[in-house]
Amino acid sequence: MKNSFYSALIFFICLLLSSCNPSSPATKKEDLTPTKALTYADTISGILFKNCSPCHRPGQAGPFNLLTYADAKKNANKIKFVTQTRYMPPFPADVSYAHYVDEKVLSPTQIEMIKTWVEKGCPPGDTSKIKAPVFYEGSLFGKPDVVVKMQEAIPIKGNGSDHFFMIKIPYQLPHDTFARFFEFVPNQRKLAHHVNGHLINYEDEKKADVFKGKTYSLDIPKGDGNVYTQMGLLNDDGSYPILTPNTVYYLPGYAPPVYPQHIGGYKINKKGAFFLKNMHYGPSKSDCEDISAINIFYGPKPTRPIQETQLGTFGIAPTEPKLDIPANTVKTFRSHWVTPTDLSIISVNPHMHLLGKSFWAYALTPQGDTIRLIKINKWDFKWQYYYTFIHPLKIPAGSTVYAYGVYDNTEKNPYNPYHPPRDCKERDDFMSMGTTEEMFQFIFTYLLYQPGDELMDLSKKPTFHN
Ligand code: HEC
Repeated sequence: MKNSFYSALIFFICLLLSSCNPSSPATKKEDLTPTKALTYADTISGILFKNCSPCHRPGQAGPFNLLTYADAKKNANKIKFVTQTRYMPPFPADVSYAHYVDEKVLSPTQIEMIKTWVEKGCPPGDTSKIKAPVFYEGSLFGKPDVVVKMQEAIPIKGNGSDHFFMIKIPYQLPHDTFARFFEFVPNQRKLAHHVNGHLINYEDEKKADVFKGKTYSLDIPKGDGNVYTQMGLLNDDGSYPILTPNTVYYLPGYAPPVYPQHIGGYKINKKGAFFLKNMHYGPSKSDCEDISAINIFYGPKPTRPIQETQLGTFGIAPTEPKLDIPANTVKTFRSHWVTPTDLSIISVNPHMHLLGKSFWAYALTPQGDTIRLIKINKWDFKWQYYYTFIHPLKIPAGSTVYAYGVYDNTEKNPYNPYHPPRDCKERDDFMSMGTTEEMFQFIFTYLLYQPGDELMDLSKKPTFHN
């Protein structure tokens, strides 16, 4: 009796001690700087500049700027609220499950500091010594090497329905070279719903004028090859040029992943075009136009090509069962695939639409070990990142990759496009793919495994200039 009393007491003391332990894993060293005053100038500006300003500045997605003391003071209560609830900065992946490059997550100490600062009436400190970071306006990264714009304005009718276009964005460069990545910059940021585009490389002698032909075409019936001719996409002799699929991609909240020098990247010929096979604009209330741009960032010749594939909708393994989500149900689907050879997984990108509720993916090795890939506890359609692992994850041959998606087609889902809910089905036709139809995709990029890949540091990225 006495013994168990003492062990309970000791347990309780241990509990107390552990909760006071200042080096608990959630607290980062850099936050423990008691010498700095809790003012905008000394502490808060640093947190906001690093974690908020990249999006909360002119030309980017954030609905207001967070670049000055006045910006922060004006929005102080909102800032306190969205950081307390972890709504901002947006980062749906659970970082207690797996870690990624550039996690947009504030530490508990930073969140507490913001709260106290706001409650103390936002003391400014000496703001004269604070300089807001300088960003390049049309890019998340810095000044691109080349910016190519849509050749002519795309007309979007204000008729309240979705619009789908095929769009050609041709260019001519001084010489053949290599690109590290392409960044799609929407002009109609509120309407751009998603983009999926390919890169076309023309051999110099096979194409006289890349700018000839129609710039865009409305959604066309499947298999109508004629449209490629009308858009001037083919070589002059009618043969097909070299096409690298899925090189340009955009969804709200998406940023192209950037990898270390020698992996990924593309060869680009001096004559070329981006072919946006699927430019989807959401419904608009009034007639408007769009002239979006693509930023090209040059890079060295890649020695390790990155490959990309997907499970689920349009993927190498089907959705199980078929993605039918009856009205008023919450349903779980999965897809699984056995790896034929050793892979080094670089990044993962779960994809669902508005009925998505949660997502989970992992691999199970033949030895029975679990390799954690991603867990999203609360799906948010607005934030569909490519999550890059800090070191490539080796998935040995014969492992099974499992992906699970939970969908909520009830009234309880605030993003449900229909009230009352309607039956929802998977779309097998690329062209009619809208937000109100569902998809289940687990997209991932990988290298064919080479010994030592585990040591590669994917957070080491090139520097960009403003
Ligand atoms: C990756 C881009 C991004 C980052 C980083 C980001 N935001 Fe946002 N923020 C947005 C977008 C886009 C919206 C509007 C859509 C939404 O509410 O989800 C938004 C909305 C908000 C809102 C809500 C506005 C309203 O009235 O509903 C607040 C407040 C906010 N952000 C503050 C912050 C703070 C504070 C940080 C940093 C700690 C931050 N954001 C980081 C993109 C970002």
